Amino acid sequence: MGQINRELMRRDAPIGVFDSGVGGLTVAREIMRQIPNEKIIYFGDTARVPYGSKSRETVTRYAEQIVRFLRSFQVKTIVVACNTASAYAIHKLEQETDIPIIGVVKPGARTAINATRNGRIGVIATEATISSQMYTRYIRELNDGVTIYEKACPLFVPLVEEGLWEDPVTDEIARRYLTELIDIGIDTLILGCTHYPLIRSTLGRIIGKDVTLVNPAYETALELRQMLSDNDMLNQDPPGLGSNKYQFYVSDKAEKFVRFANSIIKYGILSAKTVNIEEV
Ligand code: DGL
Repeated sequence: MGQINRELMRRDAPIGVFDSGVGGLTVAREIMRQIPNEKIIYFGDTARVPYGSKSRETVTRYAEQIVRFLRSFQVKTIVVACNTASAYAIHKLEQETDIPIIGVVKPGARTAINATRNGRIGVIATEATISSQMYTRYIRELNDGVTIYEKACPLFVPLVEEGLWEDPVTDEIARRYLTELIDIGIDTLILGCTHYPLIRSTLGRIIGKDVTLVNPAYETALELRQMLSDNDMLNQDPPGLGSNKYQFYVSDKAEKFVRFANSIIKYGILSAKTVNIEEV
């Protein structure tokens, strides 16, 4: 990590959270639940989603632009809620930024290591996250003795975005993707993409109840809370009324984002603003 400049971090400053689109709201939702006093500025790159089929260079450039945008709000830390952006860009962002940056891949890897009993861990994610092998790398750093099976599941993101969370089509695709992992006998499965927790019940039903499903969002929010607490940076008081506690920005039309967001977050997302991120 680059040098952290603590002078830049104020307790009551917001936390920046970003994703390629709506999926990162599963991470924002966990932060809202676990550290309810914190303000959040969320950016969803809805004009350039999906990241999961793009190159490292492109995703890194996008992530750098978004970090610049979030910093204009004097955020005290940034959570890279997108697995693909965490896998491809986290090291570069850490080097370039003087506030803490937290990704979702490392916390997810740590939870899986704690959960596995037979040492066989499956990872499902976008093509980009799988090709980066970042989950494997972090898991191995923690425990070299486990076996990791990675599987790209590119059709899950469009299925979730189309609202087919409980649907025979999603069941069929999940069966095709997961059969291999079932045959291998994994006992732990990392949901290594922001969208997958939304089809958790389908995935759980198909993979079987003996497999622990790991949602990195939960552990990421825990790590964030711990990091803020260690640095005496937790916001002590609930933000007052009218303080715009949660603000949402997107790079394309806001309507679809707001509809989707309101279906998964029950904290009242009233609106989102569109920004031209290419100009930041
Ligand atoms: N947010 C992405 C991730 O977690 C999934 C959607 C995309 O491909 O951009 O990897």
